[in-house]
Amino acid sequence: MDVKIVDLVKDYGKFRALDHLSFQISKGMFGLLGPNGAGKTTLMRIITTLLPVTNGQVIIGGVDLMRDPGFVRKNLGYIPQDFGFYKSLNAYELLDYVGSMKGLSRKERRHQITTLLEQVNLTRDAKRRVGSYSGGMKQRLGIAQALLGNPQLIVVDEPTAGLDPEERIRFRNLLTHLSGQRTVILSTHIVADIEASCSAVAVLNRGQLIFSGTPDALVQQAKDRVWQLEVEPGEYSQIENTFKVTSSRAMNGRLQMRLVADENPLGRSTPIEAGLEEGYMAVMAGVGNEAAHA
Ligand SMILES: Nc1ncnc2c1ncn2[C@@H]1O[C@H](COP(=O)(O)OP(=O)(O)O)[C@@H](O)[C@H]1O
Ligand SMILES: [Mg+2]
Repeated sequence: MDVKIVDLVKDYGKFRALDHLSFQISKGMFGLLGPNGAGKTTLMRIITTLLPVTNGQVIIGGVDLMRDPGFVRKNLGYIPQDFGFYKSLNAYELLDYVGSMKGLSRKERRHQITTLLEQVNLTRDAKRRVGSYSGGMKQRLGIAQALLGNPQLIVVDEPTAGLDPEERIRFRNLLTHLSGQRTVILSTHIVADIEASCSAVAVLNRGQLIFSGTPDALVQQAKDRVWQLEVEPGEYSQIENTFKVTSSRAMNGRLQMRLVADENPLGRSTPIEAGLEEGYMAVMAGVGNEAAHA
């Protein structure tokens, strides 16, 4: 199901949280990337009909969200940033409750819940209180509740906070699997979360769209601007203050750093291939702006 965002504006009082956004989201996994405060959660909550817009349009599956929010709710699953789970319920009871809110019959609920618990690997823990779940289990339960009713659009807000690396990978794989037949919108401030999985990416900063395109096109934003530089530990802080450093590691008592810069830093750096992280840094720094909406 396609999502079309047209000249969208959201104000909280005098503060403009979304500033004339226009872009389109198609089937597959879509990454919405941006630092804290960029407006990601605001946009997710608008798409899920929880928050009214100030101006502009959101068209989901050809239907204007403002005209028919009921249609959107029926076709949408939402995995919010913070779960307000009823901690005293067990997973089965919770899914049964959400399913009835979505208008599923008792029989449909029983059937879907059994399948979904299998799918997210929670069958064995279905009778345990949700309050005793680990972060990863809660996220998987979050996926299961979002999938009730088999929605064609799934919105996931900052999913990997509080997950250990193994859980993060498992969660990411599950989302990739889901995005096969559906549209999955994944918002995150962690570039690695979208690295492997997304077919398209948008970058938000302070409510503005500063990039939209494929992950490869985002990498291209840093083309010929990524350098490797070896420095003495004493030089580190000066260099960090002067250049955009994307990574550094200790090597034989020296530091090997990756930097984003237009010119060869200190005249003794080696050009290297850009990665997604550097493409993101380049658009955040406003480098290569003319091409950012290609
Ligand atoms: N209910 C609100 N009232 C006023 N300002 C808000 C409200 N919710 C969010 N904001 C502000 O809007 C901006 C975007 O917030 P948010 O959408 O949560 O960004 P993100 O999810 O990218 O971190 C932030 O500056 C935040 O402080
Ligand atoms: Mg957020």
